[in-house]
Amino acid sequence: MVTGESVDTGPTQPDVAVVGGGPIGWAIAWRCATRGLRVVVHDPAPGSGASQVAAGMLAPVAEAYFGERELTGLLTESASRWPGFAAELTEATGVDIGYRTEGTLMVGLTADDLAEARRLWAYQQGLGLPVTPLRPSQLREREPALAPRVRGGALAATDHQVDPRRLVPALRLAAERAGAVLVAEPVRWLSEITAGVTVVAAGCGAAALTGLPVRPVKGQVLRLRAPDGAPPGFRHVIRGYADGEHVYLVPRECGEVVVGATVEERSDLEVSAGAVLRLLRAAVDLLPEIAEYDLVETTAGLRPGTPDNAPILGPLPGHPGVLVAAGHHRHGIVLTPVTADLITDLVTGGGGPEPLLAPFRPDRFGDLPGGVGVTATGSTFQPATEVDTWN
Ligand code: GLY
Repeated sequence: MVTGESVDTGPTQPDVAVVGGGPIGWAIAWRCATRGLRVVVHDPAPGSGASQVAAGMLAPVAEAYFGERELTGLLTESASRWPGFAAELTEATGVDIGYRTEGTLMVGLTADDLAEARRLWAYQQGLGLPVTPLRPSQLREREPALAPRVRGGALAATDHQVDPRRLVPALRLAAERAGAVLVAEPVRWLSEITAGVTVVAAGCGAAALTGLPVRPVKGQVLRLRAPDGAPPGFRHVIRGYADGEHVYLVPRECGEVVVGATVEERSDLEVSAGAVLRLLRAAVDLLPEIAEYDLVETTAGLRPGTPDNAPILGPLPGHPGVLVAAGHHRHGIVLTPVTADLITDLVTGGGGPEPLLAPFRPDRFGDLPGGVGVTATGSTFQPATEVDTWN
């Protein structure tokens, strides 16, 4: 096990303290507890962070962006683990986590939108990712509810979805059944924790605890509901460009449709009329029937962003026994299985050097500015209450 030399690892102390009760934190806790380790999870409000807002798209293909090749590799690896992870979680808990495999349709409304989309699809195909262009008639065959104006699209058949609002309670249940224990209090300093290994899975809160460059990236999201308790009139996740607006629509069996999301360099949680207007206009342009749905929720959340949009995974420099699993930005839900597996391997010392981790290590950012939550000096810390992740 990767232990710090200065911590108390006596018999009453946990083997592993996870800071953060979002999907990443609970998944690590579950994996560690099932390996027989004594695990505590610190979070004053578990599951209340960004995962509450997240749509749950498992989209390594549709979210493969220019210049993010290594991240795309990790997303693809994690997505490939999702079917087994979902099955194992359902087996452990009996909870239906809303895992759906109909795939994702990527569409362009206007000729300009389609041209922009096609550049990205060509890049994705160049990486060997499964993007299948569809003629308009093929698109409508798959999804008759699409607006007649939609010019064209492509299928990412392997981009699936899960419901984060079901996933996080299921992960918590699995972890607690395996023996993990919640400590419902904030952690202000890592030095407060006595455990063999501390794992910082605190989303945006990781910045204050570790000094790592994790910043909030605001996203506003809508939830709609199909009339009369019916399921939505479309089955695929739809990701579209509509008159220059990027929008996604995620249908759930229960009738809910998640419509997202803005990407804003802000840290407030206000919902603005302009954002709701733009998201709804883009959604209705692509799927006109959405106009008949009830608008049941408008929310904002904070993605834990990093300078290179990639997560931070591995040992915190200068702090033996402290591991980081944070900064998952737009990809927290899809990256949950691989993060949990890799961090658990680090905790238990299993598996040897892991090439998958190399591009994502905390030391890629060089020297840290003192880690305001790591030592009991400094006065600018924020308690780790924003603990969570996003997809
Ligand atoms: N991955 C979806 C989002 O960040 O909005």
